[in-house]
Amino acid sequence: MEKEIHKNNKIPPNLKDYAETCKKFRWEDVKKELGLDTKGGVNIATNAIDAHADTWRRNKVALYWEGSGEERKKYTFGEMRQESNRVGNMLKSLGVNKGDRVFVFLPRIPELYISIIGIAKIGAVAGPMFSAFGPEAIRDRLKDSGAKVLITDASLRERVHQVWDELPELKTVVVTRLPETERLWKAEIHYEREIEKASYDLGVEQISLEDPLYMLYTSGTTGKPKGVVHVQNDMISHYITTKWALDLHEEDVYWCSADPGWVTGTVYGLWGPWLNGASQVVFEGRYDAERWYSVMEQYGVTVWYTAPTALRMLMKAGEEPVKRHDLSALRYICSVGEPLNPEVIRWGMDVYGLCIHDTWWQTETGSILITNYPSMPIRPGSMGKPFPGVEAAIIDAQGKELPPGSSGILAIRPGWPSMMRTLWKDEKRYKEYFQIPGWYTTGDTAHMDKDGYFWFIGRADDVIMTAGHRVGPFEVESALVEHKAVAEAGVIGKPDPERGQIIKAFLVLREGFSPSDELKDDIKEFIKHRLSAHAYPREIQFCESVPKTRSGKIMRRLLKARELGLPEGDLSTLEE
Ligand code: WTA
Repeated sequence: MEKEIHKNNKIPPNLKDYAETCKKFRWEDVKKELGLDTKGGVNIATNAIDAHADTWRRNKVALYWEGSGEERKKYTFGEMRQESNRVGNMLKSLGVNKGDRVFVFLPRIPELYISIIGIAKIGAVAGPMFSAFGPEAIRDRLKDSGAKVLITDASLRERVHQVWDELPELKTVVVTRLPETERLWKAEIHYEREIEKASYDLGVEQISLEDPLYMLYTSGTTGKPKGVVHVQNDMISHYITTKWALDLHEEDVYWCSADPGWVTGTVYGLWGPWLNGASQVVFEGRYDAERWYSVMEQYGVTVWYTAPTALRMLMKAGEEPVKRHDLSALRYICSVGEPLNPEVIRWGMDVYGLCIHDTWWQTETGSILITNYPSMPIRPGSMGKPFPGVEAAIIDAQGKELPPGSSGILAIRPGWPSMMRTLWKDEKRYKEYFQIPGWYTTGDTAHMDKDGYFWFIGRADDVIMTAGHRVGPFEVESALVEHKAVAEAGVIGKPDPERGQIIKAFLVLREGFSPSDELKDDIKEFIKHRLSAHAYPREIQFCESVPKTRSGKIMRRLLKARELGLPEGDLSTLEE
């Protein structure tokens, strides 16, 4: 093991003593701190926005927004309250009721954040989608969730038009930033014009802690992405994990580089920080070393939550761009999504003079469950220790807890507040997470050292993590076989120094098509546009056949072993 890193925190951490806190911790106390111990209803938007707008924080900046271009805006908590009230009223006028699904397909512009809050205010269920999604990804999500309203913008709406005919439950599409010269289509309406008509006053829907709040689709090994449903009760976890793991203080300026289409952006780029009354920065643009540092410098970012893939790219960009910017305000860095390489931590110590704190969690867990804390020494390469109140263990297939040092399934004792409540219309797949009695199984393998630090080993399934995105091989294979030249497809994740993994596809061509580089490019473009820009195979290999089991399942493990030159393992089920 590498040397432990002890830190000198610039300010006293919110969580002062990990071991002491774990001993005394009760979720009930957090609930009280949030004022949720009443018999009346609740609403996360009240706690995250309106309650602050009733205090001196009314004039505190909630959102500093930096557009991709020159545009900049800021909103105080008072303004966020008003703007989200108007969205709530607009949606009500469109017939949206409690429990209805409203999906949001927008770039990271203020309307994205304001809409999600407005949706919560009327008790509807928000479904954020990445702006990189193509028509197929959009169709699958809107269709499965039965979304009634979609909020999108002029640059993205055309992808919705392509699939609208297949979405009978989609009643209205609200379009923002539509130029005067462009016409509305079908049941589209103008965001700005409708908002103009909407009142600033809204009676926020008071609902139960178990009412749904948002849903996000995420990938597994089999089948289409599944709709993970989270409820209002999640706010208990959002609040306290942001406070202790991200260590947000009143005077912090916080930046989470994740998009709300990913759970990190919804939980820690929206609800968690605002539940803590923090000022957040949102940058609309894509990754760019120079621009990222300039955002941090301009706003004086103090706490930064990002992903290993971004950190690896920054590492590649080197020290020069860091030197060109004043990052002296920065005091705390966290990372999530993939293993955080010790090398990246060392580099961070060198160039930022700060330790990067790894955090582990999943779309399904709804909040950080294993993490590093400012007050606890870091063991580079480890994900840290379970959050107070969370019981994590390494178990075998029978549910037996394994001793320190043994590898096994990473499992969590159910009962933490932000655990997903169901998979949308798929209780069967939901139950699969709880097949081992007494445990929620994560799909990750890991081990724990004798001091209780957890170390990530890998995924127990075929799910691919590429540049921080979770991609199911099945969804890519399904999209690939829709290309006119592709008969069969097998998809794996292939290790890549920058992206963690890249997607590699093995393709069997249809009669009449022959392998060529042009065809590879055409297939890549096809997936980028149909499915998503995150999910296209960077590498394609044409082959005569794809190995399958006798029952017809693609043997991705074998494809992977062959690709990496590893032992092929048990081939007894391989089709002759
Ligand atoms: C992986 C992300 C190693 C893991 C919030 C998990 C990690 C999956 C880490 C969930 C980490 C997440 N170290 N691996 N710190 N954090 N993962 O749902 O395989 O997009 O199961 O949620 O990402 O991905 P998801």
